[in-house]
Amino acid sequence: MAGLSIENINKRFGETEVLKAVSLDIADGEFVSLVGPSGCGKSTLLRIIAGLETQTSGDVRIDGTTVAGRRAADRNLSMVFQSYALYPHLSVGENIAVPLKMRRMNSLQRLPLLGGLLPGTGRRASEIGKDVVQAAEMLEIAHLLDRKPGQLSGGQRQRVALGRALVRDPAAFLLDEPLSNLDAKLRVQTRAEIAQLHRRLQATFVYVTHDQVEAMTMSDRIAVMMGGRILQCASPETVYDDPDRIEVAEFIGSPKINLLPVELSETGQIHLFGHVLPLTTNRRTRGVASLGLRPEALHLAGEDAPIQGRVVHCENLGSEMFIQIEVMGLEPRITFRAPSDKRASLTLGTSVGLTFDMAKALIFDATGARLREISPTRAPKAVVA
Ligand SMILES: Nc1ncnc2c1ncn2[C@@H]1O[C@H](COP(=O)(O)OP(=O)(O)OP(=O)(O)O)[C@@H](O)[C@H]1O
Ligand SMILES: [Mg+2]
Repeated sequence: MAGLSIENINKRFGETEVLKAVSLDIADGEFVSLVGPSGCGKSTLLRIIAGLETQTSGDVRIDGTTVAGRRAADRNLSMVFQSYALYPHLSVGENIAVPLKMRRMNSLQRLPLLGGLLPGTGRRASEIGKDVVQAAEMLEIAHLLDRKPGQLSGGQRQRVALGRALVRDPAAFLLDEPLSNLDAKLRVQTRAEIAQLHRRLQATFVYVTHDQVEAMTMSDRIAVMMGGRILQCASPETVYDDPDRIEVAEFIGSPKINLLPVELSETGQIHLFGHVLPLTTNRRTRGVASLGLRPEALHLAGEDAPIQGRVVHCENLGSEMFIQIEVMGLEPRITFRAPSDKRASLTLGTSVGLTFDMAKALIFDATGARLREISPTRAPKAVVA
């Protein structure tokens, strides 16, 4: 296994700049997800690492060695695609064996009839057979080895594709939305299996997805991409609790983060709906900003609380309940998690006051950059201005 280093990659398709100065170091054995909205350049970056696409400038290194000019086949990376890309006329076992045959047998030995007569073919074939069975057992598809892909479910097909990637013992695994063709239940199950597989193999994984839940649950680190750039690459906890930019805060988390308009004064005060928050910023310029609050950072409070609204929607997920309130003069609704003993009383139309943990307040300036130089002021609670 090996670490990967992506150094200042730029990619243009004609006039379109698809990747802009992308740099990322992935440690040996690390699981890194590339997440971001459709079209942000995730697959292009993965294909450049794999050698299926050529960058306009920049370098890719595997274990410190540049792979510039090395063909995809010579990079020893295993790629798994959304579409599985299985050979329909070959059995599951033969599909998994393909990369091993390509590697361990010459073109004559691979011939279906004649190959068997050549010296050494039998021994190689039996070694390959053993490796195929081992990979199939690890993925619990050993009982399916004789079937054709057409006789398998979507989840089983995806496991065959994983098995084919697995047998090669590659320097790293590159996966491009491997679960997006599966139904919701199977996705959750296969997600756990891939995470287990990663732990067992201790291999380097680069995993592309536009599903932030997948990225949050599987990764050591998440690289959040937008518009061809990596905005932040950090642990799931960090991108959730401590985002660098408003776009990262908005993309990560379900339900989404609440964003409320605030005003900054030249004295460093922060005003929310006419309330002065007990927070001070070092930025002493007047201007508008956004206050980001995760649903769990909000708490029920009285009529003097800074946020006042009316319940317009209750979303009961069983284990927890999210309440949406409408605040007068504010376009987006505000979502908070209902405490279990208050669920019954939070019916449609109820008036609600909300306050929040000041330590969890995220302030973003007008350009979307996080304002980090925030400190609590002396007053312990929000007070009416
Ligand atoms: N061969 C190509 N020629 C021209 N433009 C391309 C080509 N491949 C990708 N693009 C463009 O590059 C941008 C990034 O594409 P890419 O496939 O990397 O996005 P993505 O993040 O993987 O999106 P998705 O989540 O939809 O798979 C898109 O705007 C796409 O239209
Ligand atoms: Mg893609």
